Amino acid sequence: MNEPVFILKGNIIYSKDLTELAVCEHGYLVCRNGLAEGVYPTLPFKLGGNPIHDYGDCLIIPGLVDLHLHAPQYSFRGLGMDMELLEWLETNTFPEESKYKDIEYAKKAYTIFADNMRRSATTRACIFATIHRPATLLLMDLMEKAGLSTYVGKVNMDRNAPDHLREETQESAAETLEWIKDVLHRKYENTRPILTPRFTPSCTDELMEELKKLQMRYGLPLHSHLSENRSEVEWVKDLCPWAEFYGDAYDRFGLFGADCPTVMAHCVYSDDREIARMKENGVFVAHCPESNMNVSSGIAPVRKFLEDGLNVGLGSDVAAGSTENLFRAMAHAVQASKLRWRLMDENLAPLTVEEVFYMATKGGGGFFGQVGSFEPGYEFDALVLDDSGLSHPQPLDIRSRLERMIYLADERVIKAKYVKGREVDLS
Ligand code: GUN
Ligand code: FE
Repeated sequence: MNEPVFILKGNIIYSKDLTELAVCEHGYLVCRNGLAEGVYPTLPFKLGGNPIHDYGDCLIIPGLVDLHLHAPQYSFRGLGMDMELLEWLETNTFPEESKYKDIEYAKKAYTIFADNMRRSATTRACIFATIHRPATLLLMDLMEKAGLSTYVGKVNMDRNAPDHLREETQESAAETLEWIKDVLHRKYENTRPILTPRFTPSCTDELMEELKKLQMRYGLPLHSHLSENRSEVEWVKDLCPWAEFYGDAYDRFGLFGADCPTVMAHCVYSDDREIARMKENGVFVAHCPESNMNVSSGIAPVRKFLEDGLNVGLGSDVAAGSTENLFRAMAHAVQASKLRWRLMDENLAPLTVEEVFYMATKGGGGFFGQVGSFEPGYEFDALVLDDSGLSHPQPLDIRSRLERMIYLADERVIKAKYVKGREVDLS
């Protein structure tokens, strides 16, 4: 356990808002009882005497937030990246996910996942597990031990899946209830349950109704996929002809933000009505640019989401995204937005470094509360980055050094990581 008050010294940088970074060169970042208390260019006299961790010329940024990834898919990251979504689900994803019925296999795979997440730049994450209750609990135990703050979901699927990965409707609801009870019993500090209907094609209307009952009874948030890929969007039109648009197929069941904090991955094909409903309901968009390229989904209109005032964060979407490294997600978000602007719609300007950094920190952090900034009162999630390995002949300011991290960093530059004021073991 860290001291109740401690101070990090280094080059501190965080988002004030979408367009502006706050920078404090060789400054002091104060943590009190797990919360950020302030950033100071010189240490106030009254704080003298508290322990100072001096990180020299390192950069200190808020921890990164992964709003969408799949733990069981970590085992096949980097494979099958030449397929399109639905083919990739059938060929790679479903066969692998069905292996998590075997708790020994789950233990091997989830131990690797949790270890790598511990050493990654991620401090917060919304994580899909599989339909299997014991393996999902095991994943939650491992994430709790890893020291990240996460939402983890037992997945629900009662249609359009192979037999070995499909639950009966009532079985799915009952298993979810048991899982919630198990989770509450375990009294995790940093690991919370989140309802996780895989996506509309995987869940019958009856199952959605059952999930809504659980949502209300336990006040749980929800995590799913939305308007990701053309063939998926067409499929949902066939399955739910009564829905005004894809998101409406969740909203009809009260599972789209209104009274249920909701994160929806992708939103590549969200039309004006869907965007308006997301805004009205406060839905968080998890933008997953690498995944959207790999499984031929497209490029989400993120500029429009930002202009319309939606909550937007980034997701790695492992394993449709090949890496948990959120620096890559930031770079991909800029790159994808430029292609979209150049090739599809010159009215939607490309994203800036400031904007993608905001999305990876404060934007996605909003789903967890006051998270993703060093402003007073925010939960103290911090990364210390040693960029001295990227030598350069010219002087670079702090913002430029951050920009280079976004394009070039991986977990090797992370010198220290704090979640809610507690230092994570990176060994
Ligand atoms: N839609 C439904 N399931 C999945 C999944 O596992 N990955 C992605 N990218 N999209 C999905
Ligand atoms: Fe996904």
